[in-house]
Amino acid sequence: MRLTSKKNSCGSNAPRLDRRLHNNEVAMDNEKLKPNSDFPHVCAVARGLEPDIETDFSAKLDYSGYLHLAELLSAQKPLSEPMQHDEILFIIQHQTSELWMKLLIHELQAAIRFIQKDSLESCFKILARVKQVQRMLFEQWAVLETLTPSEYMKFRGIFGHASGFQSVQYRQLEFLFGNKDAATLKVYDHDPASLQVLKNTLESPSIYDEFLRCMARNGFKIPTDRIERNWSLPYEPSEEVVRAFAEVYNNPLLHWREYEMCEKLVDVDEAFALWRFRHMKTVERIIGFRKGTGGSSGVSFLKQVVDIHLFPELWQVRTLIS
Ligand code: HEM
Repeated sequence: MRLTSKKNSCGSNAPRLDRRLHNNEVAMDNEKLKPNSDFPHVCAVARGLEPDIETDFSAKLDYSGYLHLAELLSAQKPLSEPMQHDEILFIIQHQTSELWMKLLIHELQAAIRFIQKDSLESCFKILARVKQVQRMLFEQWAVLETLTPSEYMKFRGIFGHASGFQSVQYRQLEFLFGNKDAATLKVYDHDPASLQVLKNTLESPSIYDEFLRCMARNGFKIPTDRIERNWSLPYEPSEEVVRAFAEVYNNPLLHWREYEMCEKLVDVDEAFALWRFRHMKTVERIIGFRKGTGGSSGVSFLKQVVDIHLFPELWQVRTLIS
């Protein structure tokens, strides 16, 4: 038996066993090596390289360079001493959530620009992506749920009062969705750049405000004080807006664009609510009814927002559909 570099049976160029006979080698019955149901073939050799695969990156941009992996992968810095095994999970769970939130903000800002131009179709594609990212963020809780209370308590003390409550991107996302609460800005006094970003978002119309303005432009009866108002204040539901949505839902074929937009918004509202619920349940199973590191009452504080409806009239209208 000897090694050759011809294609092996899995199609790769990796060395394979050449089963031709040599001198005193024992004859092998090739028939017996053919796949059959008693002896199924499985591929178990290295794939090897194809001739066109690029290998010289001395003067070219490679994968890590493009993605800045050196910075990204050196940003996990556990503080526990001696280092607690599970702290890295805790850090990565937060960092990956922040990365996905960055994408959500990017997408929602684009969606808002499309709605401003009455281009709802372009917005559908974006909201479909937003929903899938939210689904991932929801599923991700399952990973953190493998952290037991005793494992968490081993490093909880080291990050002091740091808490997701101070997440700038989460707050920006809430404002883009329309959950406006100026009081939450108080924790950013030490960080003027983030405070400015959040103030700008707080004072601008949310995706829902923009949709109501778009509906008004397209002939639906939306009260003036819902399409011109102080955007930094929380949105107050309006019966007239419910009636406008009832017109859409009672005649979907006539108002297909608005109908589809409404359902896409309900998708993302529901997905956000599911995230908040799963966060609250994960917290409950890990810290029970302790106070949060950010200083709140913990689970009971998180429970207060579980039932929030970002787009209230889109939920109210469902009771009225004939
Ligand atoms: C062991 C895991 C976790 C625990 C025990 C926990 C606990 C808490 C608690 C108690 C609060 C309320 C504020 C406070 O007093 O601290 C909070 C808020 C928050 N946490 Fe977590 N959390 C965990 C994981 C995460 C993860 C992975 C994220 C992802 C980014 C996250 C994001 C947030 C956000 C955005 C808030 C603010 C929610 C709001 O304002 O309604 N948390 N967390």
